[in-house]
Amino acid sequence: MEILSDITEMQRRCLALREAGKRIAFVPTMGYLHAGHLSLLHEGRRRGDVLVLSIFVNPTQFGEGEDLDSYPRDFERDEVLAREVGVDLIFYPHVEDIYPPGYCSYLSVEGDLTATLEGACRPGHFRGVATVVSKLFNIVQPHQALFGRKDFQQLATIEQMIRDFNFPVEIVGMPIVREPDGLAMSSRNVYLSDDERRQSLALNQSLTLAAELAREGESNAHKILEVALKRLTAEPDLVIDYVKICNADTLEDVETVDQRSVMLLAVKVGTTRLIDNSFLIGQI
Ligand code: PAJ
Repeated sequence: MEILSDITEMQRRCLALREAGKRIAFVPTMGYLHAGHLSLLHEGRRRGDVLVLSIFVNPTQFGEGEDLDSYPRDFERDEVLAREVGVDLIFYPHVEDIYPPGYCSYLSVEGDLTATLEGACRPGHFRGVATVVSKLFNIVQPHQALFGRKDFQQLATIEQMIRDFNFPVEIVGMPIVREPDGLAMSSRNVYLSDDERRQSLALNQSLTLAAELAREGESNAHKILEVALKRLTAEPDLVIDYVKICNADTLEDVETVDQRSVMLLAVKVGTTRLIDNSFLIGQI
């Protein structure tokens, strides 16, 4: 396994691999790897001749007052885990190389898809994500890139960007990996105190309750949302950013639940912001 920080060197290496006929599978991350990231890497290992992991805490996708400075980092631990899953190349660039002085180009996916949910709560977030992912694609030149459905709207935004900008990259969406008790894996889970960690179970439990109701035949989205809200508000320290039932393709709110309906939520537990989602009846 090799670790490269230099952008030109990384790009040259990846172009040479492509020219040699190697298929490049790519997993972009912000590091502090957990089992969710590892599931993407395992699948990438299976799909590609060469497996590339990027680790970059991208400042442009964090808003003011968000956790950019405190975002957990542990490169040495990530390196060990990456080696174990069979990563060939880690791209670990410096912020000042990705965004040098005078940097001024951004890629922004516009429209309803990014205006709602995370886009509404975190203005500029998807502009930062789309910008860095497009830069990483230009550097790594992957055939396939793997993303988790934990960040459902991010995946939809990247897919839209791929279509709109004709990136020759196949996007692979991967299932959410959860802790044994149901909490979706996230680098941010380390922020949680024991009590907050316990209260956070309400996220997955509210999704499960909602899915149960929908599978029993309830199709009224408002009634399903009521049940989910009741579970979330039972915890004293949860502050809800949103709980919505949306069409999986457009992310528009739905009134009547069907196979394409997904429930998405974002909640603050103390100072930690967590997101989760689940299809209600159908899958993927
Ligand atoms: P990060 O939060 O590190 O996540 C990297 C990838 O891992 C994303 O595709 C995310 O959806 C996936 N992932 C995170 N938790 C997961 C879980 N519990 N189950 C399955 N997949 C999971 O998402 C980002 O970084 C950044 O926005 C990035 C795309 C790297 C751009 O900066």
